[in-house]
This record gives sequence, C-alpha cells and structure tokens, in this order.
Amino acid sequence: MTDVDDRTPAPRPTEMQVRARADALLSRMTVEEKVGQLVQYFSFGPHFTSDGPALQQPDEVEHALARGRTGALLFVTDPAETNRLQRLAIEGSRHGIPALFGFDVVHGLRTIFPVPIAMAASWDPGTVERGQAVAAREARAVGVHLTFAPMLDIARDPRWGRMVEGPGEDPYLASALAAAQVRGFQGDDVGAPDRIIAGPKHFVGYGAALGGRDYDEVDLSESALRNVYLPPFRAAVEAGAGNVMSAYMDLNGIPAGATRRLFTEILREQWGFTGFVVTDADAGRDLVTHGFAADAAEAAARGVGAGVDLEMATTDPAYAHLPEALERGDLDIATVDASVRRILEAKVRLGLFERPFVDERRAAVVLADPAHREEARVAAERSAVLLRNEGGLLPLDPTTLRSVAVLGPLADSRRDTLGPWVFDVDLDETVTVLAGLRGRLDPAVTEVRFAPGIRPARRVFPSMFDVHPGNVPADPEDFDDDAELRRAVSLAAGSDVAVVVLGEWQHMIGEGASRSSLDLPGRQEELLRAVVATGTPVVLVLMNGRPLDLRWAAENVPAILDVWYPGTRGGTAAARLLTGDVSPAGRLPFTWPRSVGQVPLIYSHTRSHSPSAQGVRYWDEASTPLFPFGFGLSYGRFAYSGLTLDRISVRRGESVAVSVTVTNTGNRDADEVAQLYLHQRHGTASRPVRELAGFRRLHVPAGGSRDVVFRLGPAELSYWNAAAGTVVQDRAPFDVWVGGDATAELTTSFVVTG
Ligand code: NOJ
Repeated sequence: MTDVDDRTPAPRPTEMQVRARADALLSRMTVEEKVGQLVQYFSFGPHFTSDGPALQQPDEVEHALARGRTGALLFVTDPAETNRLQRLAIEGSRHGIPALFGFDVVHGLRTIFPVPIAMAASWDPGTVERGQAVAAREARAVGVHLTFAPMLDIARDPRWGRMVEGPGEDPYLASALAAAQVRGFQGDDVGAPDRIIAGPKHFVGYGAALGGRDYDEVDLSESALRNVYLPPFRAAVEAGAGNVMSAYMDLNGIPAGATRRLFTEILREQWGFTGFVVTDADAGRDLVTHGFAADAAEAAARGVGAGVDLEMATTDPAYAHLPEALERGDLDIATVDASVRRILEAKVRLGLFERPFVDERRAAVVLADPAHREEARVAAERSAVLLRNEGGLLPLDPTTLRSVAVLGPLADSRRDTLGPWVFDVDLDETVTVLAGLRGRLDPAVTEVRFAPGIRPARRVFPSMFDVHPGNVPADPEDFDDDAELRRAVSLAAGSDVAVVVLGEWQHMIGEGASRSSLDLPGRQEELLRAVVATGTPVVLVLMNGRPLDLRWAAENVPAILDVWYPGTRGGTAAARLLTGDVSPAGRLPFTWPRSVGQVPLIYSHTRSHSPSAQGVRYWDEASTPLFPFGFGLSYGRFAYSGLTLDRISVRRGESVAVSVTVTNTGNRDADEVAQLYLHQRHGTASRPVRELAGFRRLHVPAGGSRDVVFRLGPAELSYWNAAAGTVVQDRAPFDVWVGGDATAELTTSFVVTG
C-alpha cells in the first residue's frame, strides 16, 4: 500500500529551519513525550526465533509506539511493516512525530557486498562509496533511515571476531574509507529518497578488547587513542556523519558509553559533531551491569549526561527512567531537551514529517535492481587479494583446462559466501565459487567436479547469534567423514587443477565470535595437505574475515587467492579472477601474522632496543609477518621509479609533493595500489618505523606507466604528542618509501624546518 510517493523529494530544509522546527515541537512536549523520543526498541520480525535473547514481543512494541513511549525502532526491514508501524507511531504521538527506523546495513541489505574488511582490502574509496550508496538506496526504499555502520574500530588482534566488520589495522586507510562510507550512505542530503544516516561505531576503542575477547575491557593510552583509534571517527564526522554509536566496554576503567569527554568534549566540542549518539544494544542499562550506576535511573542520567541521546534497548529501557532521574535531580531538563532536539532534528533532516511512508511497489523494484548486483560483483573483484602465485599457476586458462576439482566445505555454501551481518538476503541468487566457475567455464571444454570433503565445524559454545535461521550450517545427514575426504582427494587426483575453498564458516566470525586459535577449523588443513599430496596443482581460495594460520599453505600451496566473504556475486567474481578476466589487486588492510602467538602484530610499531633483532624477538618463531600490511600480488608486474620530491626542506605548515612512476612491466593490464609510507627520524616523541601516509589505486595497462603525486602536509606530518597533550609538528627529518606494500624499498627523505 502506498501512502505517499517517496520519489518526490521534499525541499531540503536549511539548518535554521531544522532547528526551528525541532524547537517548536520541543516546546509543546511533555517530559514523557520527550523521553519517548530517546528510546529505540527492537522490533524483531519472523527472522528470529523466540528462544533467542530476551526480546520484546510485537505487541509490546506496538503498545509503546501507540503511547509515544518510543520514537525509534530497529530491525524492521519489510516495507509493509515499516509503513504499518510508522502509522502507529504518528498516530500515537500528539504531535504526529514519525519514528526513526534503524538497521545494521553493514555490507548491503538485499544485495550483499563483500564484508567490510574485504572492502577495505580494495584500497579504493570509490568502490567503497558506491557500495554503501547501493546499500542506502535499498535500505531507504524499505523504510530504513539509519544504518549502524560504518564500523570504524581499528582492529589489531585477529582473535577478535569483529575485525571482519571494520577497516583493519591502519588509521590512515581507515579514515579514507570512513569518509567514503559516510558519503555513500548519506550523499549530500539525507532527506533524498535514496540516502540514509550513517552511524559510525563503536565510539571508541572497542577493537582493542583485552585478549581479543568481544566486549572485554580496553586500556588505551592517550597517544593510541588520539593517533590510532579516534582518527577514522573524526574523518567520518568531517564527512558529515549524522549519528555515532557508543561502544560497550570499559575504556580505561569507565564505561565508554558514559564518558562525557568522548561524546561532549571530543565529538561535539572539539570536532563539531551535530548529530545524535545512540547506545549500543542495551548499553544504557549496561551501566548498571558494569557496576557503574546503581540503578536504571542513574544509568540513564549518566548516559544522557555524558552526551548520549538515544538508547537502543531490547526490554525495559533505562532511559524510560529519565523522569525519575529528573525528579531526583540527577540530571536537568535542559540536558534531556538537548538530546531530544538532536533526535527531532535528525527526523526533520530526513524529511520524515513530509514523507514518513515508503512505496512498497517501488521497494520491490529497487531491491531487485540488477545494477546493484553488478556493483557487488565489481566490488568482490576489486577486494580479492592474491597472496601467492608460484610459477604463475594463476590465471587458469579456460580454453585448455579439461577438468577442475572444486573442493572444500565453503565452495558451494551460499550462506557462507555472504558472510556475517546479513539478514534479508535471497540465498537463491547468491553465486558460490562452484556456481561461478560452472558459469564461467565452457562445459564442452572443462569438466567441473565438486566435493565438500569435510562437514561444517561446530561452534563449541552456543551463542545468542545463532538465533537467525540459516546462520549455523546444518550438519549434513549421512556424511561419512573419511569417505568424503577420500572422495575429494580422488577428484583432485584425476583433475587438471584443484580449487580448494577453505576458511571460516561465517558464523565463526563477527560479534561474539572471538577465537583463541587462527587455525583453519575442522579437518580443513588435513584435506588441503591430502589434495596437495596428489601432485595436482592446487589453488587455495580463502573465505575469511581475519588472518588465519597459513604457515603450511604459504609454503606448500602454489596459489592462494583470498576472496574474503565476497557477497551476492562472490562466486562470479572469484571465477573471473581465477580465469584472468580481471587481475586481482586487493591489498591486505592488516599485517598477516604467522601464528596466533604473535598477535597483535602491526607494521607501524615504534623502534626500540636492539632493532636489528626486531625480526627475531621470539625464541620459537620469527617476529616478522607471514604477509606484510598492504601486500597483494597481481597478474601484472609493477616497478617503481623516479621517486622525487618537489623540495627537500619544508617549513612547518607547508607541503611537500612526492612523485613516482609506476610501470606495469608484465603482459597483462592490471591495477596496482601505490602506497607511501613515512617515518619521522627523531623529534619530541618516538614515532612508528613506518606509517601509511598516502595511497592510490591505479589501472596500468601492460607495458604502460602512470605518474603518481602524493602530497604530504601538516595533516600527515603532525601527530598527537603525549608529553605536550596536543597535536604537534616537530622540526625533524623524515624518510619516505613508496611501493606496493609496507616493506617498500624505494626511498628518499626531506626535512621539516622552522
Ligand atoms: C550490537 C552490536 O555491537 C552493534 O554493532 C549493532 O549495531 C547492534 N547490536 C544492533 O544490531
């Protein structure tokens, strides 16, 4: 049913009009009505079973809407349902205030893009922006106005399962991708019919959880916070993000979600953020759980008092106790008003008062748009990383390949191809690696044979995240483990090449899925070793969202292509990469350790005592990575030359231009990611041995060259200094390296003076 045709854009209000409209509403609202605007309820649809976490029942949600006790919902993505609930919200409010609908549109809604860590591996802000623009278009079409994305938590410990959702280890790369994602979601105007509000999360430091255990406490120095963990959020705010989500854990001994310095001082006063802050799910009440607030009213007062505006709650929201907190004098009404105003302003900017409903027929058309699937395919191609290619095994030649054995438990798993954090998908249109190869190879030339080899690995401890049907792979019936493994190996033995698709099942990664090991789970390595032992050339295709322990594979498997969780068109993309229709050009957005004992392992460490022994810090393992940050191979071959500076001495505040020529000396057209690393030799703090300070993804035809110019200015040459308690730019000599990864050797230097 269509209430209003949402293609007619409402005129964009000026910021003065936004403020005036919010103030006019605010002046007429009771305390209870105001508090209702600060509560966001989950509205779980049929996707979720009732034996999952304690959830509101649908009638509770409807009751709360009809009485103005909530002004925001999350998890509703059916357009008929968003319209129905929206009507209840408007009718339940004396002032006709529409509800705000939020959802985790993390890497797509119906069209699923590669997981965020994969998108980061594209090193391509344009691809990232286009992906989130597609996600926004689909989300807005069904009535979602706010996404809980991008996740911008720097992650340096791959045991932490949520690494898959973020930008990796590096603040410079993460900041570029943060801004791109905000632009993709929001465009120029969140009131436009295909845009939604972006909600960078989790503010801040969540990725540094102790031991990589999800939700565990975090201790971060001011230097780490300012130089590493905050910059991506700042970039998102500068790109105009309309929302920020608080983090669950304690940060330096205080719940992050009640830290006034974060939300009021840094976010609003220092960075000028004008949007609203939402808690993570149930994190309002968590202030009691943390042993911080005595009761729900105090939790609400301390959360809102810190600058948090909206509580995302399952049952019994703490913020519903705000009237009590006001009566007790724990909080003043002006603080509550400021939060309510921010929520109302967001609704005005979104144009919800003019266009609260969606056109359900149009939603169906938007969700089915083939152009979205094409964008997802291209993104999957651009994010895959070629980790090894001994003897040029790849690309495979489809004109001469007579048989290929496609093996492994992930080779034909549609759910796993999509990765975690997807809900409203159509599995039938998801292309697995097996399906992609079948589609790409001519059956008259190449016979494609398939065997999974092993059964899915089981989660050791049950999780609340298993409630979504299909999330946990079904245990196959009548699966004779040894016989299946033998069958897979014999298919390999009788084929020209074996493509073995291994990794982590998607439910092994993501929220609540930290791991104590980085091994290939189950009997996967056993399968891989047995296949390699047949002597048939092997291509390992990896599906993962974090580095895995590939020590054996990196020495014994000739070709390794990491496709991550590549999304709806992942298999099509994988097949095109494997057969050379396109050259892989993704680059690692993190340092790939050899083993779990090395973590955290980062390229941008500082130099300390006995630097010549940096690579031999362990008794039993090299302390170098298996693959460096920024690494990735290509079907092209790249040479860097002519590294020059436009000056060798700059004054503070000035910029230096760094030029280099990138030549593709190979015989295939390919993309390269030119990377610039910087080191300050000495100064008023110890600075990392190398830090990424520029990158450019370029297409270079075979035999062709491209000139690249990087500009290094105060933003790249300054840093937050712990002793000074502020950002400083030292007078110092700097080394520069340019090349294809963090071990680049082509170098030059310059000096910052006066
Ligand atoms: C908890 C997660 O930490 C957060 O990232 C997510 O947005 C909410 N749940 C809602 O699903």
